[in-house]
Amino acid sequence: MGIELSKVDAIIARHGSEGRALIPLLLDVQREFYYLPEEAMERVADKTGRPAIQVYQVARFYKAFSLKPRGQHMVTVCLGTACHVRGGERLVDQAARVLKVRPGETTQDRQFTLETVNCLGCCALGPIMVVDGTYYGKMAASKVERRVGKSAAALLLSGRIGESFDAIVTGAADKGTWVRLILPPVEGRLERGFQGLDVGDRVRVKLISTDVERGFIDFARD
Ligand code: FES
Repeated sequence: MGIELSKVDAIIARHGSEGRALIPLLLDVQREFYYLPEEAMERVADKTGRPAIQVYQVARFYKAFSLKPRGQHMVTVCLGTACHVRGGERLVDQAARVLKVRPGETTQDRQFTLETVNCLGCCALGPIMVVDGTYYGKMAASKVERRVGKSAAALLLSGRIGESFDAIVTGAADKGTWVRLILPPVEGRLERGFQGLDVGDRVRVKLISTDVERGFIDFARD
């Protein structure tokens, strides 16, 4: 699948072509695509006048870079000794079942990557699972599904309170209505202004709150 090279060009224009700009430039490319696509690295080499081999070397040298497609959300489970003996494997199995991928793989929709690590340095809290940088200690396998799905959705929207979105009504009840945004495709509760709506209706909503811990997303009619 090709990438939008114009996005790479914009990042290059922002950073310029000086030697020290290469790492922040590649970090921004990765932030855009969630990994470093080959075409993007070729473009960086081409536009900044560097040998392609130099760009590849930097990308391979630093652990922060991934050359394999990664999801928009990272789910990391610790399998270090302390977490392993407290059930880390069960967390991995459950996350793999929920996401339908094996450790090291990314879901087909490029939403999630599941990975394991050897120790996160907080062994007393094990077993540990991390979703998009938020640590969940003493994690139980039974909580994985809720954390992974709903928390990731709430995280995705957490900085966008007050923004408006187009949505489709997915469930209507007396005390509230469920809506799914067109983009990003996440579901939440329409707390205000849901009267008269039916499943399948298109509606403009405003994000009023997110609760990453509990995975709640609330909207009001815009
Ligand atoms: S073993 Fe998991 S944090 Fe150390």
